[in-house]
Amino acid sequence: MPERPYVIDEMISAKSIAARVEALCRDITGEFKGTDKLVVVGLLRGSFVFIADLVRELDLPVEVDFLEASSYGNATESSREVRILKDLRGEIAGRDVLVVEDIVDTGHTLAHVIQLLRSRHPARLKTIALLDKPSRREAPVKADWTGFEIPDEFVVGYGIDYAQRNRNLPYIGKVRFTE
Ligand code: IMP
Repeated sequence: MPERPYVIDEMISAKSIAARVEALCRDITGEFKGTDKLVVVGLLRGSFVFIADLVRELDLPVEVDFLEASSYGNATESSREVRILKDLRGEIAGRDVLVVEDIVDTGHTLAHVIQLLRSRHPARLKTIALLDKPSRREAPVKADWTGFEIPDEFVVGYGIDYAQRNRNLPYIGKVRFTE
């Protein structure tokens, strides 16, 4: 499918992201202090840059695992089907788990992942999202930690794509179509 031409306007600078990640990690380190069993679970693919920065700022012993979920929107339904394309490699029963999401948009993905992981009986299950678009919410879910609340704009960069491009931008930008 041909892409419409667009430009990217910077919304959140690399410096602001780094400062926010540092502050979030101080808080998360305090929350999980003393644990030797934290598993940080990145939701692929959009969280890969965020999780890399997060784990390097956490002053805790951590393991890293990944989960890939894909949601299929259907305009006539209020809830969407979320499928697990790649499951965790490790067991999480009795472990402390921190789920890392790039953007909470309608919330269906995070709600489904929380429900799935809870059924595996972790000791604690916490969530963090880099970005939150509260005005788009359909499922009643909120991450325990949020980097930035943003308006209903389509954003890219810092791991987040538009048609698989722009994940490598060091900042968060909004997509503006020029035609
Ligand atoms: P949700 O289930 O609607 O909350 O969907 C969340 C997922 O949709 C995110 O993990 C992203 O992969 C994708 N998404 C939502 N908003 C954007 C955006 O502005 N840019 C790129 N991907 C987005």
